[in-house]
Amino acid sequence: QGKRESLYVLNKWAGRYFAEQLMGTDQGRSIGLSYFYERGYREETIRKFELGYSPENWTALVDSAKKEGHSTDFLLETGLAIEREDGSLYDRFRGRVIFPIHNLTGRVIGFGARTLKTDKKVPKYVNSPESDIYHKSNVLYGIHLAKRAIVDRDSCYLVEGYADVISCHQAGVENVVASSGTSLTTGQIKLISRFTRNVVILYDGDEAGIKASIRGTDMLLEEGMNVKVLLFPDGNDPDSYIQQHGSSSFRAYLDKNEEDFVFYKTRVLLGEAGPDPIKRSEVIREVVKSISLIPDEIKVSVYIQQCSGLLQIEERVLLTELNKMRLERA
Ligand code: GTP
Ligand code: MN
Ligand code: MN
Ligand code: MN
Ligand code: MN
Repeated sequence: QGKRESLYVLNKWAGRYFAEQLMGTDQGRSIGLSYFYERGYREETIRKFELGYSPENWTALVDSAKKEGHSTDFLLETGLAIEREDGSLYDRFRGRVIFPIHNLTGRVIGFGARTLKTDKKVPKYVNSPESDIYHKSNVLYGIHLAKRAIVDRDSCYLVEGYADVISCHQAGVENVVASSGTSLTTGQIKLISRFTRNVVILYDGDEAGIKASIRGTDMLLEEGMNVKVLLFPDGNDPDSYIQQHGSSSFRAYLDKNEEDFVFYKTRVLLGEAGPDPIKRSEVIREVVKSISLIPDEIKVSVYIQQCSGLLQIEERVLLTELNKMRLERA
């Protein structure tokens, strides 16, 4: 307990340190802050998300932390510092913009850090490692700022990245969280289900995003969530769509294009299958499999009806297949 509290205290200090580097130093302002401005982030947004900057220096944070009396153990446990062979410490985050990651109550539990280089050899994001206060599979980026809006709207948008969450807020959409690169976990779904049963997946409109949205859908259905899906055109993500088209057309695009998972999955898979009858029957099985995961019988029968119309297959045939799948799982 004492240890966890110490980790929170150190992360809180580090968050302030990164924010001060961003706003209060020449390097931070000319490199970090101007990067955020170029991405279209306003100053109030930068403060709201407590964004920061880590200087291009091997020991800037470690030196300040030691001056403040923070212990080596906790610097290593939070992952803010990394140990060399000779026992000396260096900073994990260097020359990057910083996205603090918060828990439900708004305490800082870790950091995501984006490179400013376009060099493909360096990783785009470096993140804090797991610690006693940071369990990645139970964390959703932005949840502390989204929970009230999720309850008010009785719906949660799920995006891939930090930048997507931040741009959505600026566009006036606040009921949004990110799974941050990891594939969606049961722990993350249970966190959302404390606030709403309705999820709209807004993943990137690329190969990876389409795959992840189909996988994520089945997990959400199993947890009893209602799922809609919307992908952005031409490889866009929510952030890039907002940059290109503006806030109001983004909100209009959301309202107009979100699609129930049955239609979405059927459309995507039928498109991939083409006219081949064997492939088409595989698609039908795939869609029925998703429906068979839904715990609510009334919803199941409504979906079977819709699916029957969509695929031009008798309901009876779909139901037989569905029951077979349930038996196989039991
Ligand atoms: P921007 O280029 O800043 O708009 O990033 P993005 O959020 O659009 O990135 P992308 O769609 O590639 O990835 C989505 C999320 O996956 C990011 O926000 C990160 O949380 C995570 N991610 C992306 N790249 C990396 C990486 O190189 N390493 C790790 N650990 N996570 C990554
Ligand atoms: Mn990527
Ligand atoms: Mn992506
Ligand atoms: Mn993206
Ligand atoms: Mn992006």
